[in-house]
Amino acid sequence: MTSPDAGAGPTPPAGGGGRRRFLARLSILAGAAGAAMVGLPVVGFLLEPLFRRVPPAWRDVGPADAFAPGRTVEVAFTDASPLAWAGITARTAAWLRREPDGGFVAFAINCTHLGCPVRWVDRASLFMCPCHGGVYDAAGNVAAGPPPAPLTRYPVRVRGGRVEIQASAVPIT
Ligand code: FES
Repeated sequence: MTSPDAGAGPTPPAGGGGRRRFLARLSILAGAAGAAMVGLPVVGFLLEPLFRRVPPAWRDVGPADAFAPGRTVEVAFTDASPLAWAGITARTAAWLRREPDGGFVAFAINCTHLGCPVRWVDRASLFMCPCHGGVYDAAGNVAAGPPPAPLTRYPVRVRGGRVEIQASAVPIT
């Protein structure tokens, strides 16, 4: 005659399940700690440039004589603080105008709403943002739409007959 427990396998010693659970949790904890020790420095290395304060940098955008008075043109330059892996995305742009008196004014190309690139429409003398209908007047002031602030202006100087723009981080409010 067989007992009712036959075939149920050996009975674990009392307290064995608790020890097994404890060791399993301990190994999970040790694994997580090891992953954090290896992973956190890598994550920190990748994210650090995003939080670093970007010092402004002067960028040459061409000879002053190349810009006709009264005209607003797009000029391209390298970002003030390009990331090592940025590639072509390190290139950015601004709208540069030579005033009739010979001075220069430069506007950021990024809309102050969500950063879309604005376009200068010569016939209307307006900067238009294609994303949500933002409109800026020729001085960069908000004329219509959701932008919360005027277009950011970059400092401009002329050195040795060449125009330089003081580039900085992407100006999004
Ligand atoms: S990003 Fe220009 S209006 Fe929204």
